[in-house]
Order: sequence, then C-alpha cells, then structure tokens
Amino acid sequence: MSLDWDDVKPSTPAPALQIAGGPAPVAAHGAVVAAAGATGLEEVTMGARRIQVDDKKIINCRADLNQLVPFKYKWAWEKYLAACNNHWMPQEINMSADIALWQDPNGLTDDERTIIKRSLGFFSTADSLVANNLVLAVYKHLTNPECRQYLLRQAFEEAIHTHAYQYCIESLGLDEAEVFNMYREIPSIHDKAAWSIPYTQSLADPDFHTGTPEMDQRLLRDLIAFYVVFEGLFFYVGFVQLLSFKKRNKMVGVAEQIEYIMRDESMHMNFGIDVINQIKVENPHLWTAQFQQEMLDMIAEATELEIRYAHDTMPRGVLGLNASQFNEYLKFIANRRCSQIGLKQLYPGAENPFPWMSEVMDLKKEKNFFETRVTEYQTGGALSWD
Ligand SMILES: [Fe+2]
Ligand SMILES: [Fe+2]
Repeated sequence: MSLDWDDVKPSTPAPALQIAGGPAPVAAHGAVVAAAGATGLEEVTMGARRIQVDDKKIINCRADLNQLVPFKYKWAWEKYLAACNNHWMPQEINMSADIALWQDPNGLTDDERTIIKRSLGFFSTADSLVANNLVLAVYKHLTNPECRQYLLRQAFEEAIHTHAYQYCIESLGLDEAEVFNMYREIPSIHDKAAWSIPYTQSLADPDFHTGTPEMDQRLLRDLIAFYVVFEGLFFYVGFVQLLSFKKRNKMVGVAEQIEYIMRDESMHMNFGIDVINQIKVENPHLWTAQFQQEMLDMIAEATELEIRYAHDTMPRGVLGLNASQFNEYLKFIANRRCSQIGLKQLYPGAENPFPWMSEVMDLKKEKNFFETRVTEYQTGGALSWD
C-alpha cells in the first residue's frame, strides 16, 4: 500500500472542465444564488440526464452531488481507500511504560513535563477546531462526491485524534480541566486557535455562498488556512517535540499515538493541497497576484505564531532541541508548504535541522510501525444477532 506522506509529490490535478453541453439540468435549490454550486439537497428529478464525468466540478458544480461515480478526482478516492487501510484506535497502543515514567518523580524533568502537557493542551482542542471547520464550513462548499467521501473519513479521523489526546490525558492522570482549557489560558496556544476561527466563521455564515470570485477566494483562503497552515505547520513543533521523546525512549506510548496521528495528518494535508491545486486549475482567475500576496502574508503570520509557540513551550533547551532550531525548521516547512501550492518561497535558503523527521514520515523505513500494536484491528468480526 502506498502512502501519501509529506514528501510525496501532490497528485496531478485533473484538467479544467470542458463541458460541451453545459451543466446537467438539475434543479438548483431555491435558496442558492445563481452561480453557486449544488449542495446535494436539491429536489430529486425523475428522468434527469445521467451524470457524466465532465459534469463534475470541485466547486460550484451544478450537477447532482449524490452520485459517487463516475470518478473524476481519482486522487480523492485513492486517499479515502488509503485512509481506511490505515485505520487505528488509540486504545490499541500500550501506555503502561508512559504511566510508570510519568508517576516516577525522577522520571522526567519539569521542562519535559511542560512539553507533554502543552502539546496535549494544544492538540486536544486543535482537532476539534479542524473537525468543526470540515463539517461546518468546508463540506457544504466542496461540490464533489469523491472529495466529500474523503472529508467524511477525515472527520472521523479527527474524532479519533481527539480521542487519542483524551486517552493520553486519562492514562497519565493529568488534570483534564487544565489541559483542555489551555487554548483559553496559555497565550501561545490561544493565539493559534484564535487565529484559525475567523476562517471557519467566514464560511459558516448562512449567507455565504460560493460563485463569485470574491467568495470563491474566501473558500480557497479557508482551505489554505486549515490544510496548509493549521494541519501543515501548526502541528509540527508538537510533532517534533513528542517524537524527540521516543528517540530517547521516553513516553513511547504518547509518541506512538503521535506517529499514527502524524501519518493521518500528512494525508489530510496532501488531500487539501490536491483540492487547492484542483480549484486553481479549474478557476485560474482566483489566483491573482494580490491573492497570492495575501496568502504569503497569512502563512508568514502563522509561521511567527508557531515560532512563538516553540519558544513558549521550550524556554530552555530540552531533549536535544532548542527553540532557535525551530525558527529554521518552521521556515523550512513554510517554504515547502508555499511550493506545494505554487507560491514563491517565503524564506529562501532555510534548511531542515531535523532530517530525522523525514525518516519518521516515511513508513517504508519505519519497519516496526505496526509491530507494537497491542491488538489487531478487527476488520471482519462475526455478526451476532439476538
Ligand atoms: Fe487531526
Ligand atoms: Fe487533520
């Protein structure tokens, strides 16, 4: 099974639509403005023309959205299948060594404990923000069934991630209220969460509809904010920090949870990048010089927030890491994200101080990835009826 990791090239976007006969004659929902896409809630029309692959558009599609096939965006379907093959659950991971280490007064330094708690504090609410954005903002406006199929799978994975953090917090006996309130009590965590909310709010407004260049850019901006920045940049200080514990054979259960999450997140980001690039192919008029500059400014602002988060969680060097390495790392990651969506690099020449991260990301090199699972995932249990 091939996985779409960070280093994998984005899928080739499908060519722009050439609809010879115009869109399929599906009755538009009364509340939808003329140029906006279907939602899937339109009246079902008896005898309507069958959906052709060329009727499909990633945004502002007018054809019925309730037919998965024929596929137009095979990359979306393939990611859905790969994500299902990667299914995992937090309770499959053995946390007993972590519990013993956490309870040992000499097991970890105060700085190490701070990193664990702050990471769980950020991540435990971050996945809720991502899930809300998917369900309340993005889903309605991506007008393609195979992309929606992936979004439904992604939404479940975000629930699994929130579950994983809750499971870590419960296993270690942490103060739940302290951890779950960090996004409202710790400034560097608050700032990342607060940064993201307006992008969701903008699309969740009941009066928001795509179909004009300005509104379509708002959708594109939200997709870049969440898939490229939130899942592609804001998670990476935490990922490096928690995986650094594993390199020192500490908190291996928490780190393993993070490895599974990072694999999922890498796929989420790659899906988002494919969606963004497909929207650009089909709507090149949206990708103006001014819009590109806005996106660069947005990514630069977010990079600064993540650098601040690195300093806040790591006031002193710990685990062989120090905050200044993260200045360079985050600029390196930001450059990659810019390139992946066709923007110029923000920080030319930034280098990766953590080359081992790329190896962790490559499942093929991580031979033992599945061997530490405590239970096999039950894929075909016998049904029993009363
Ligand atoms: Fe997640
Ligand atoms: Fe995600």
